[in-house]
Amino acid sequence: MVTVLNKFMMSNNRENKIGKEKEKKRTSRDVKIETKNLNLWFSKNHVLKNINLKISDKKVTAIIGPSGCGKTTLIRSFNRMVDLDGARVEGEVLLDGENIYNYGTNVVALREKIGMVFQKPNPFPMSIYDNVAYGPRIHRVSDDTNLDKVVEESLRHAALWGEVEDRLNANAYELSGGQQQRLCIARALAINPDVLLMDEPCSALDPIATAKIEDLIWELKEKIAVIIVTHNMQQAARVSQFTAFMYLGELIEYDKTKKIFETPKEERTKDYVTGKFG
Ligand SMILES: Nc1ncnc2c1ncn2[C@@H]1O[C@H](COP(=O)(O)OP(=O)(O)O)[C@@H](O)[C@H]1O
Ligand SMILES: [Mg+2]
Repeated sequence: MVTVLNKFMMSNNRENKIGKEKEKKRTSRDVKIETKNLNLWFSKNHVLKNINLKISDKKVTAIIGPSGCGKTTLIRSFNRMVDLDGARVEGEVLLDGENIYNYGTNVVALREKIGMVFQKPNPFPMSIYDNVAYGPRIHRVSDDTNLDKVVEESLRHAALWGEVEDRLNANAYELSGGQQQRLCIARALAINPDVLLMDEPCSALDPIATAKIEDLIWELKEKIAVIIVTHNMQQAARVSQFTAFMYLGELIEYDKTKKIFETPKEERTKDYVTGKFG
C-alpha cells in the first residue's frame, strides 16, 4: 500500500516537475523583450527609473502615461535609438533573452529585428515603391523580382496595396497623412521585424485612418510583438492585450489591459485612466 502511494507521489512529482519545465519553457519563449532594472539619463535628467517589464510575443502592449513621463524614451531604448540621443543607460534590455546593451551587439541587425513607426508619418522623399524597398535594399541583397514581391506583400500587409498599386512610382508625399503612415508601416514591415514599436502612430490621423491602422495592429499581432505608445485611452483599450502605465519615469502598473482600465491596483493608475489628470 505504502509503495503504491509512494509510486503515485513520485510520478505525480515528476509530472509536476515536467509541467513546471514546460511552463518555464513557454514563459521564456513568450517573452520577447524584458527590461531588468532599466535606468536611463539624459545628462542629469533621470528619465527612466528602474523599469522592470516583460513584453509578450505576438501580443499588443500599450504604453500610456502623461506627456513627458518617458514613454517614447522607453520604446527608443528597445532598439538602442537612445544611443543616438546621447543617453546613459544602466540595467538590461533583453531581446529573446540577450542583453542588447552588451558590448559587441550588432546595432544594425538589432534595428532590423525591431522596426519603428513614429508619431508623424515620415516617408522618405522618394517614390512609394522606393520607400518600401529601402530597407530590403540596404539590409539584403535581393534581386529585383524578389524586391517587387516584398514591396507588394508589405503594402498588402499594411492595408495600402489596393490604394497605391497603380501608382507605385508616384512620390510618397502625394499620399494622404493616413496613407503615409501606412506606407511607413509597410516600410517597417518590409525588413520582416520581430517587433514593431509604434510611437503614437495615429496622433496625426483622422478617425477613419486611425481605424485602419488599429485594424492593422490587430492583425500584426498574429505574427509579431507590437508595442504602441498612445495618448488615447480608448485606443489602448481597443487594440492592446497588455497595458503599462508610466508616471514620471516610473512604471507604476503593468497588467492585462482590462485590469488596468477596470480594476487597477494603484490609485495613480485609476486617476489617470479615469481622466483625473493627463
Ligand atoms: N533626445 C533627448 N535629449 C534630452 N532629453 C530628452 C530627449 N528625449 C526626451 N528627453 C526628456 O526625457 C523625458 C521623457 O521624454 P519622452 O520620453 O519624450 O516622454 P513621453 O514620450 O512620455 O512624452 C522628458 O523630460 C524629455 O524632455
Ligand atoms: Mg512621446
